[in-house]
Amino acid sequence: MKVLSVVGARPQLVKLAPIAQAFAGTEHEHVIVHTGQHYDTALSDRFFADLVIPEPDLNLGVGSAAHGVQTGAMLAALDTVLPSYDPDWVLAYGDTNSTMATALAAVKLHLPLAHLEAGLRSFNRRMPEEHNRVLTDHAADLCLAPTTAAVTQLEREGLAARTRLVGDVMADVCLATAAWLQAHPLPPLRQPPYIVATIHRAENTDDPARLRGLLAALAGLPVPVVLSVHPRLAKRCADLGADLQEGALEPVEPLSYPEMIAAVLSAEAIVTDSGGLQKEAFLLRRRCVTLRTETEWPETVESGWNVLAPGKDPSLEPLVTRPLPTSDPGTPYGDGQAAQAVVAVLDEERGQ
Ligand code: UD1
Repeated sequence: MKVLSVVGARPQLVKLAPIAQAFAGTEHEHVIVHTGQHYDTALSDRFFADLVIPEPDLNLGVGSAAHGVQTGAMLAALDTVLPSYDPDWVLAYGDTNSTMATALAAVKLHLPLAHLEAGLRSFNRRMPEEHNRVLTDHAADLCLAPTTAAVTQLEREGLAARTRLVGDVMADVCLATAAWLQAHPLPPLRQPPYIVATIHRAENTDDPARLRGLLAALAGLPVPVVLSVHPRLAKRCADLGADLQEGALEPVEPLSYPEMIAAVLSAEAIVTDSGGLQKEAFLLRRRCVTLRTETEWPETVESGWNVLAPGKDPSLEPLVTRPLPTSDPGTPYGDGQAAQAVVAVLDEERGQ
């Protein structure tokens, strides 16, 4: 079997790591195409090195642009690239513009399309990620669902026959990295206690009043807040003249994946709008506060490890110091072996 993975943005590289590793132990051929959506070393190259992912076979070098221009450039490039590899499966990851371009290119070329992380919904149609994931699920021949909630959602949308539950590959990489860190500890980011924070989603960064409110809420916390600064946040803050050194804030360059897991393990709490970080906090049993009106990962909230703070000026102190949940949250994201399940399901469903 030949599987062609298309990735482009940071969270897709994290998901690619366990998949590439699972393929490495098989006779199957795994081709990696990078769209170039993320091109900064801190958002891309370092992830290949730190997570020991083979170099991409091809980088389309698309870069940043408005959504339509960026997605269109990827679509045009993939139109010639995908057939040249003649894959048994094109594998699309998550919910970025790279995901949707991959889906459109594959279905129009009649190449079998599998969607990893299918069935997640925010039900917020203002989010670019929501369009990307809904359209990709409905284009896909195979929906690889990470959770039972995602399976239920795909059934509701009439996609049951194409859906398979595989578990969450982000749990694979998170748990494996946490275990690796026990044997290979990294120098501490700073002395605890501290909070780890990230803000990068368009709905938070692109509304000046909201961004100022969120930064002020973080700056006002009584413990240091290590803020990992995504380029989108850096640009918006520069445009606004907002000071990232204010109050409790301690801005740092985007962390590598192992650095982030180590930082979470030593943190009092996480404050974020990242989907991945919400789950990493849950898996590593740290309090999380999500700066959004909804989450695609309801299991983290139901268990009490995550709370939503939807407001513009959230009062964060009671949330980051709330008592830790005591009930057993179970393993809604699987047992850390999802990538093997993905390879097995792709092989089983091939040519059907
Ligand atoms: C994208 C995904 C988002 C994901 C995030 C993770 C979409 C619609 N969004 O958002 O779901 O959570 O990646 O990081 O695909 N930039 C750089 N260097 C880079 C990449 C981007 O400076 O390597 C800057 C550019 O100014 C660009 C902006 O960041 O315009 C946004 O980048 P883009 O890839 O469009 O979306 P993200 O915000 O990174």
